[in-house]
Formats: sequence, C-alpha cells, structure tokens
Amino acid sequence: MSDPIPQSVVTPLTPAAIFLVLNIHQGAEIEKNIRAFCADLSALRRTVGFRDPDGQLSCILGIGSAAWDRLFSGPRPKELHPFKEIKGVHHAVSTSGDLLFHIRATRMDMCFEMATLIMERLRPVATVVDEVHGFKYFDDRDLIGFVDGTENPENEAACEAVLIDSEDPDFKNSSYVIVQKYLHDVEGWNKLPIETQEKIIGRKKLSNVELDDENKPDYAHNILNIVTRDGKEVSILRDNMPFGEIGKGEFGTYFIGYARSPSVTEEMLENMFVGKPKGNYDRLLDFSRPITGCLFFVPSVSFLDNVEP
Ligand code: HEM
Repeated sequence: MSDPIPQSVVTPLTPAAIFLVLNIHQGAEIEKNIRAFCADLSALRRTVGFRDPDGQLSCILGIGSAAWDRLFSGPRPKELHPFKEIKGVHHAVSTSGDLLFHIRATRMDMCFEMATLIMERLRPVATVVDEVHGFKYFDDRDLIGFVDGTENPENEAACEAVLIDSEDPDFKNSSYVIVQKYLHDVEGWNKLPIETQEKIIGRKKLSNVELDDENKPDYAHNILNIVTRDGKEVSILRDNMPFGEIGKGEFGTYFIGYARSPSVTEEMLENMFVGKPKGNYDRLLDFSRPITGCLFFVPSVSFLDNVEP
C-alpha cells in the first residue's frame, strides 16, 4: 500500500493567511455532518484553487483532542491531548478549539473565498471562536520588526521535523500543530534600545544575522528554543503571520508551529514561559502576551478523503 499523502504542511511562506478556530455544536447529526465535510474538503480546496493556480491556495485542517473523540472511533493519535496551560514567569493560556483551518495563498481573496465556502458548510454545526487574517509585512518581518522564519527547516529536513513516521504507524504522514495568538506591546518594545531587542531575539534586527555566541545571552529566544532528542537538535516548522487592527491599537503575531511530536513545541514553550533554567525566561514575553492556546492533530489528506459519514 502506498504511503498516505500529507496535508500541505510543508509549503513556503505565503503573503496571506487566514486562521479559523471553530467549536463544534452539541446535537444530533452534528458529527455526521462534520465527517461528511472532512471528505469533501479536498474538493472544496480544488474549487477555489483552480481559479488561479498561481495563487498556491492550501488549506490545512487540524482536529482538537475532544473533537477527535466525538468524530472518530478507530485508532487515536498517540500524542493528541488538549493544549497544556503553562503558569511560569508568564502565562500561556489554554483556550477552546475543536477545528483549525490554516488557509494560505499568495492572494487574500483566495483565502477569503475558501474560508467563506468552509463556513457555508459548517455554520449550522460549528461556531468560529477565533478568526485572524494574517499578512506579510516587509521582508517577512513580524510587527516587532524582526525577520521571522529564517531558521525554519527546509525540504527533507522540514518533512523529517513535521511528519509522523513509524512512531505511530496508523497516522503516518500526519502532524501536530500548536497555535497561539500573541498581542505585542509595540510601544514598550520600541522604547528598548535596538541592541537590547537584538539580545532578546538573538539576531541583528536590520541584517537578520545571528548574534555570535559571546554576544548572545542565555535567555535569547533562539537559545531557549533549542530542543534536543537523543543528543540531536530537533526542529518545528513555524508559519507565523503578523495581524492587527490600527483603530484598536492591536499589533499581533499569530504563532503556528507544526511538529511530528507536540512535546517538542511544548518543551520550547516551557523554556520560554518558565525559563531554562527556571527563571531564565524569554524576555520577548514581557512585550508579547498570548490570548489563545490550542493543540490540534493534522491527519493526512488520505485519512480525510476516506472519512465516512
Ligand atoms: C510573539 C511570538 C513570537 C515571535 C514574534 C517570534 C519571533 C521569532 C524570531 C524573530 C525568530 C528569529 C528568526 C527565525 O529563525 O525565525 C524566531 C525564531 C524561533 N522561534 Fe519564535 N517567535 C514567537 C514565538 C515563538 C514560540 C511560541 C515558539 C515555540 C513554541 C517559537 C519558536 C522559535 C524557534 C524554534 C525559532 C528558531 C530558533 C533557531 O533555531 O534559531 N517562537 N522567533
């Protein structure tokens, strides 16, 4: 039997994205409707994507722990659980979410159309609890002004980082994803000297060059995010997007991290919020506050296509 086809987790950063988190209603026939939708999602993506192949439309569906148990009775993804709240120097909240749609394209209208068609189908059975429209900001910078995404794994290394293999054979080529919606105190951040900001991130702001080891403090974001398994550094794949609303003074980063084991992202979060060692936390969090936190399982396309109502 050929390997299951993964959802399009490993795709290059796009200039536009919509993140939709939905909660499923209670009631008769609800699960049946959602299962039928799962099997139709590929066709729905083709419907919109075919209108402009250059638009590179992709749509990833993630399923939360409680929703998985409601929808499916077969084998269960080994590491699927609700997002674990962290109370350290700073607080990583855990919020509700049954389904995640991560919609990406080179054009926002394609993302918008895809989201509209998804909700035409799901509105009777689910409610949107969070919606973020992300945009590309100069040279892939986040709204605190740093280039974001540089150290993402590429090609085979990306597949190795995000796709489940023999550790959970029922779910080969599936993945896990953690999302957090961060709001920045941009005013406070911009009052810091650039050198201080650079030490917090661990890279030069203008040139994006990584600080050398003697200039990098042990609380730098890129030091705290080093995680190893069996002595080898392991990666996650991030597709963070800036978002905001000027009138509200809202400046944000939607963090999204895919991994073949959620424990890798969880360890990074522990290092950032509690500190490594304890108390040596990520100073980025003095200026960035997560207001959501959810974990989802990302089954393969082959799994979704074959879901029976
Ligand atoms: C406010 C939210 C966040 C912002 C603005 C942010 C920003 C950045 C920036 C600017 C970089 C350096 C460039 C790069 O390699 O991408 C970076 C690196 C990184 N971030 Fe974040 N980040 C955020 C949250 C997180 C979270 C929550 C995690 C993990 C749970 C994380 C994991 C990483 C990793 C693994 C790297 C690469 C480190 C390396 O290998 O050099 N980030 N982030």
